[in-house]
Order: sequence, then C-alpha cells, then structure tokens
Amino acid sequence: MERARMNNPAILAFDAYGTLFDVHSAAARLEAMIGPEAGRLSQIWRDKQLQYTWVRALMDRHQDFEAVTEAALDHAIATVGGLPAGVREQLLDAYLSLDAYGEVREVLSALKAAGARLAILSNGTPRMLDAAVRSSGLEGLFDAVLSIEQAGIYKPSPRVYRLVTDAFDIAPEAVSFQSSNRWDVAGASAFGFKTVWVNRTGQADEFPDLPADRIVEDLRPLLEMQRASRVA
Ligand code: 2OP
Repeated sequence: MERARMNNPAILAFDAYGTLFDVHSAAARLEAMIGPEAGRLSQIWRDKQLQYTWVRALMDRHQDFEAVTEAALDHAIATVGGLPAGVREQLLDAYLSLDAYGEVREVLSALKAAGARLAILSNGTPRMLDAAVRSSGLEGLFDAVLSIEQAGIYKPSPRVYRLVTDAFDIAPEAVSFQSSNRWDVAGASAFGFKTVWVNRTGQADEFPDLPADRIVEDLRPLLEMQRASRVA
C-alpha cells in the first residue's frame, strides 16, 4: 500500500540545476578558452553558488539567484587566477542555456503523456528558469515552474517546498520530489514530500535521519515507477 502511494504521486516536482540541467555544461562549452582549470572553476562556482544561498538565507539578506550566481563566479575566477577577457560574460550567458541531461526530455514527455502533472521547484529566478526550459526544448511539459523568488528565501526552507502544495492545493505526501542535491532531498523529506534522489555522480549518502524514498542514477526509472503506479 505504501509502495503504491509512493508510486502514484499526484505531482512530480523537479529540482532544476543539477537534476534537469547540467550546471557544468557552461564551463565545458568554453573549456578551450578557460583552459585546464575549467573543471575546477565550474566546481568552485557551483559550490560557492549554493553556499551563498544558505548564508544569505540564514542572514535574512536575500539576493536573487542571478546575483548569487554572478558573485560565486567572480569568486571562482579569482580562485583560479583569472580568465581571458570576455569569458566571464560568456559563462553567465551560457548559464541561461545550460544543457539538459540526455534523458530528460524523453522521460518528462513520456511522464506527461502518461498523465503525470509535472513541476519545477528551483532556486532559479523566473527569467533563468524560463530561459533554461526554452533553450532545452522542455516548453509545454510543466504545469508549474516555481521559483523560490515567490517565497523570498532559498531551499531548504520549508517555505519553499510549500510553494508546490500551495500551487496545486494538495498535501505534501501527494508530491514526489526529484533532486540530485542530497541536501535538497533532505529538506523535501523534512517537509513531508516523497523523495527521489537522482544521484547522477555516485555520491555517498548523507542525512540518514532524512532518507530518500528512492535512489536512482538518472530520471529513467521514473517511467517504470509511473507504469507500476498505473497497475497498482
Ligand atoms: C535548484 O534549486 C538547488 O540549484 C538547485 O535548482
């Protein structure tokens, strides 16, 4: 019974960056201009971007995700010792058209065709999310694209996860939340969502008091879960 309910969520909500969109595709595209530090720069950029969201939330000094992303990039550039002129701006532009992971479009299309209601819940600003959805050909698949800007605070504040239950007027346990960010899964689990950790990079598990309901390597197993829910 528990398994049937897990497999039959009314809403599938997805984290965006790292889950649907490859945050490292911006630096990868510009690797020839950045040089051998491209991978390290990209990892520092991502780590600092997330760190700044948590610090700003705790300080109650909100800045939107575009500002935070820019500040994090500046720190990353300084850490690797600078970049050729113009590459900073190209990286920020590329962040508006990140690659979706290979299976994303096909899986989301199939889920939608099978009757699932899909949503994005992300730290990204509406402008960033709109650009990412459009540039990766995911338009028309989502019933809601929810930005934390509506809550004025970053994940994992419960106020953010509540945007989903408010938007669809449903209980937390009716939502299956998919994220590649383990801390985001922990936040969603604490709020009461069913959770799927999309562990794309084989990371060690953490937050044992707030476990994921399912752990997958990419989004493809969601199709099987959806099919199972239709016969359950
Ligand atoms: C997102 O909210 C956490 O970056 C992640 O899309």
